[in-house]
Amino acid sequence: MTTLDMFGQPSGPPASQHASAAKRVAALRAELGAHAHRYYVLDEPTIPDSEYDRLFRELQDLEAAHPELVTVDSPTQRVGGKPLDHFASVRHKVPMLSIRTETDTEATGAQNFDTRVRKELGLADSDPPVEYVVELKFDGLAMSLRYEHGVLVQAATRGDGEVGEDVTQNIRTINQIPLKLPADAPDVMEVRGEVYIRRADFEALNERQREKIAQGAKGEKTFVNPRNAAAGGVRQLDPAIAAQRRLSFFAYGVGDITPSEQGGPVFDTHFQLLLTLKSWGFPVAAQTQLAQGATELIAFHQAIGQQRDSLPYDIDGVVYKVNSLALQRQLGFVTREPRWAVAHKYPAQEQLTTVVGIEVQVGRTGKLTPVAKLAPVFVGGVTVTNATLHNEDEARRKDVRVGDTVIVRRAGDVIPEVVSVLPGKRLHDAQIFTMPRTCPVCGSAAVREEGEADYRCTGGLFCAAQRKEAILHYAHRRAVEVEGLGDKLVEQLVDANVIRVLPDIYKLGLTALASLDRMAEKSANNLIEALEKSKQTTLPRFLFGLGIRHVGEATAKALARHFAKLDAIMDATEEQLLEVGDVGPVVAQSIRTFFDQPHNREVVEQLRACGVTWEEGEPAAVAPKPLSGKTFVITGTLPSLSRDEAKDLIEAAGGKVAGSVSKKTNYVVAGSEAGSKLVKAQELGVAVIDEAVLLTLLSR
Ligand code: IVH
Repeated sequence: MTTLDMFGQPSGPPASQHASAAKRVAALRAELGAHAHRYYVLDEPTIPDSEYDRLFRELQDLEAAHPELVTVDSPTQRVGGKPLDHFASVRHKVPMLSIRTETDTEATGAQNFDTRVRKELGLADSDPPVEYVVELKFDGLAMSLRYEHGVLVQAATRGDGEVGEDVTQNIRTINQIPLKLPADAPDVMEVRGEVYIRRADFEALNERQREKIAQGAKGEKTFVNPRNAAAGGVRQLDPAIAAQRRLSFFAYGVGDITPSEQGGPVFDTHFQLLLTLKSWGFPVAAQTQLAQGATELIAFHQAIGQQRDSLPYDIDGVVYKVNSLALQRQLGFVTREPRWAVAHKYPAQEQLTTVVGIEVQVGRTGKLTPVAKLAPVFVGGVTVTNATLHNEDEARRKDVRVGDTVIVRRAGDVIPEVVSVLPGKRLHDAQIFTMPRTCPVCGSAAVREEGEADYRCTGGLFCAAQRKEAILHYAHRRAVEVEGLGDKLVEQLVDANVIRVLPDIYKLGLTALASLDRMAEKSANNLIEALEKSKQTTLPRFLFGLGIRHVGEATAKALARHFAKLDAIMDATEEQLLEVGDVGPVVAQSIRTFFDQPHNREVVEQLRACGVTWEEGEPAAVAPKPLSGKTFVITGTLPSLSRDEAKDLIEAAGGKVAGSVSKKTNYVVAGSEAGSKLVKAQELGVAVIDEAVLLTLLSR
């Protein structure tokens, strides 16, 4: 049926408009495809992200106006599939074989392979060396990408090699994988390669997971290693979740091919094939190269072994493949493995060992990290004796106890971590780990704020672990400002034990300074002058310089304005602190805890004794505010006030307005059509009031 528009004409764009839109759509897709390739594969973008976004939106708009132009190979269609309830099975036209593994991690592994190949080919010692392609062995999962007439139509997992699963929707979300091949590509082209997750993306993913867990999300867990996270991502029924995993891809081979009748590329060697895939936009690892004979195989294995830690992704070995496709055919297969290829391994990145103790370390910013002390074990090429347990929740979830047998993972420069505990090997009296409530370095209280994963030491100024950070913060340009007291110098002074606590900076003499590396007399004099100058400061600068958690410049100014005197702030109760406009419960508690640590107070006294001063006035006369310390949540439509107006009024009266209801909410102001927040308030027993009651509270 044709619908008619208001002029009685068939609706929809006229033919000429359609044709010009089709042209522009094609041009935009080609342009976006080329930019995506430069960005995701080559890592050399030539336009800013904003320009890419603009082109992308233009394409989206055109497609919305001309739905008949939408095709599966459009970059707008990468994410957008609906969640599935299961994966369909895919029978591979050409079986996906595995590869023989040479577990001898020494040079002999490469030598053995070359000897076998030469023997099978009937080569004599006097014959020239066999030519190989040498590649990385990526630690992810194998993937088959099927293109028909240049369009990606199916992505399938390896499965048992014969039958895999159709994961097309998820694989389309991988920006590195072209959705379309050039016109001269074969009619059917099956590209094979590895889906993996880069180490940085894996760390970020687990960090996000840890945050979710800290915030009480149910059913969330951290991932054991990038390979598991990648496999889990590929097998997500909802492509939107798969897209969040930031999967990556490397091409390393082909499967089913039906050449185009119009000709197109012909391949004689594996290397040519990889170069063609690369020219079509597939990521092919830059390390891939040709190698002649065993000597060059060994050299490659050693060279990559050196680089392994600094690669941005995990590899578990290298792969050697006979380059000539004719020779590959001649060599053929044994059971399910080709005779023309081998994987030559490196030492494993996961090993078993036992936990001999659990220690808590304090970082530069006061963060407490539980660390498992291990019986020394050789993992990923180095001997490991420590592995991080990240935080209290992670340590509890993995339930690591002293005496346990655990799997330890070390990949690249990432800190080794305990992946899991071997059940059944636990000593019957093993104690559950608990985080200490005091800092193991300075003895100050350790606190964990709501919604945070970490415990932190509150002895910021005094704690030896935080010394460098505390001094740098104090000396910062926007804090007390000591010109010339930078990173390198603080490092040297603290390491040489010249400065133990912050006030020691004011005891620095020329002799001590001149004895330091690279310190000229002139710079030493300048620093001493800068230190003198810094003694005359202001209360907000000094307060900010103390490095109290959550007390930034703005809060420091608000506190100074409100209290005018440092002693008044140091002795203020949480309630009194809450009267300051900029201070909420978390900040008030943090200030209180800071000044409750006797060591911190002592440091403040010492600084004053060294001559650090500022002007103190009288506190600004503040009328007590009616809603100080109260937290409100507004929901639904109020009869006369807009939400913003209500919020402004509450804040002006000293109250806070939060976005969601919790046990800490004092009042929920509900208007008409109030939804889930009202239900939550009722569940938690939080007082629900209407606008009229709010206005009475305000007028008190
Ligand atoms: S070639 C017939 N090349 O290792 C040869 N495989 O058992 C087919 N892998 O899970 C594989 N990097 O996904 C080949 N450069 C590479 C590889 C590689 C990793 C994986 C592959 C499969 C296993 C082989």
